Amino acid sequence: MRIAVIGTGYVGLVAACCLAKSGHEVIAVEKDKSKLNMLQNGMLPIYEEGLSDIFEHITKDKRIVFSHDLKGALRHVDMAMIAVGTPATSDGRVDLSQVNEVAASIAEFSQKPMTVVMKSTVPPGTGEMLLRRYFSKANADIEYISNPEFLREGKAVWDWYNPDRIVIGSSSRDSANLLAEVYDDIKAPKIIMDITSAEMVKYASNAFLATKISFINEIANLCERVGADIDDVAPAVGMDKRIGKHFLQAGLGYGGSCFPKDTKGLEYISLFNDYDFNLLKAVIEVNAKQRVIAVRKVVQALGGDVMGKNIAVLGLAFKPGTDDVREAPALDIIDHLCSDGAKVNACDPMAIENAKKILKNNGVKFYSNPYEACAGCEAVILATEWPEFLKLNWKAIKESMKPPFVLLDGRNALDRGVIVSCGYEYYSFGRRTKRL
Ligand code: UGA
Repeated sequence: MRIAVIGTGYVGLVAACCLAKSGHEVIAVEKDKSKLNMLQNGMLPIYEEGLSDIFEHITKDKRIVFSHDLKGALRHVDMAMIAVGTPATSDGRVDLSQVNEVAASIAEFSQKPMTVVMKSTVPPGTGEMLLRRYFSKANADIEYISNPEFLREGKAVWDWYNPDRIVIGSSSRDSANLLAEVYDDIKAPKIIMDITSAEMVKYASNAFLATKISFINEIANLCERVGADIDDVAPAVGMDKRIGKHFLQAGLGYGGSCFPKDTKGLEYISLFNDYDFNLLKAVIEVNAKQRVIAVRKVVQALGGDVMGKNIAVLGLAFKPGTDDVREAPALDIIDHLCSDGAKVNACDPMAIENAKKILKNNGVKFYSNPYEACAGCEAVILATEWPEFLKLNWKAIKESMKPPFVLLDGRNALDRGVIVSCGYEYYSFGRRTKRL
């Protein structure tokens, strides 16, 4: 099939490349000139595991074209996938301006029947609104499908080929079947439903995963108070198949471009529809609290005041495997520590450049070498569980530090036995210092 993918963020670019690899003819449309320039010159503007191999392959075989010209692209394709950004506004609403702009252009430029597939995360009801506002008035017949993505950053290519399900929201069986054919090479149940329900599946999935994280974080906080160990509790709880073992890792909580935005977005949608989603409010609040608890643990361990203290923060990305620092817990923690007078050394294997753009004027020093970042510090916070941080020589690090050798394991990821035996004061979320 000839497909235009509009927007080359991590969702659009992964979709465009994987569709091309599956044999479709793809035109990827991008209006940002510098991004487009990179793509047209064989460079990827983002890092995604496994993407560069696919990109090299499909660009060499000329199975994908990159263009800024949406009008021109629409002349050549049978399907247009929208994958533009839907950022949050300051009050938590979802900013649909880019979606509206693209939908209006498709309606205006379409000259032959076409299927429009929405990959961007849009609030329930958006598809029906777009149909009413734009597509029902288009020059040509337009079928609209909601097809939410469940791609994790850093694992997006793997997730594309191995989804748990493909959700297709459509008012027409024929168009739903057409999209199912596009994904013919992907072995997963293809679930067909109405447009608004498909949109809700995306929000409900992210909100539920965020709920699991906040829930286990509260249990971890309680474990500390009653003397239980979250490393024993969480796996045993997760072994119940009705609960499931995933997303029960306690620590600093969720960040990134999706969970924070989508939980707040769903809260706003609830409010707008006259519904008080109390559980979701608590999930958001608990997540924000974990960062404050982390700072408090470090401040207390350093005698109640961090003024003039040197603290290393290892990990700036919101999770390992990405350079994305959006809503990353580390940034809030650094901001808090700096405003309390601490001197922070920040370290990350991939995210320093992005973090620099946000942490501008607070005197943070950036290091790519964790040993250098920790040298001379009184405390270290592990904020992102990069595999390279888990394998550090913690004994050597301790020897380069100053007392009281505080280590906050913000992701419960280190081998606490090793850490304690090195002589650190070890803090975590809900782990006992020694395991039975
Ligand atoms: C998430 C979802 O997992 C995807 O299915 C979804 O498609 C995507 O959002 C999206 O809406 O586009 P992503 O944001 O890439 O993907 O990251 P996750 O791997 O889900 O992790 C999110 C955050 O939760 C990270 O900060 C991670 O450290 C944290 N987390 C995750 C925990 O704190 N504990 C856990 O047990 C799991």
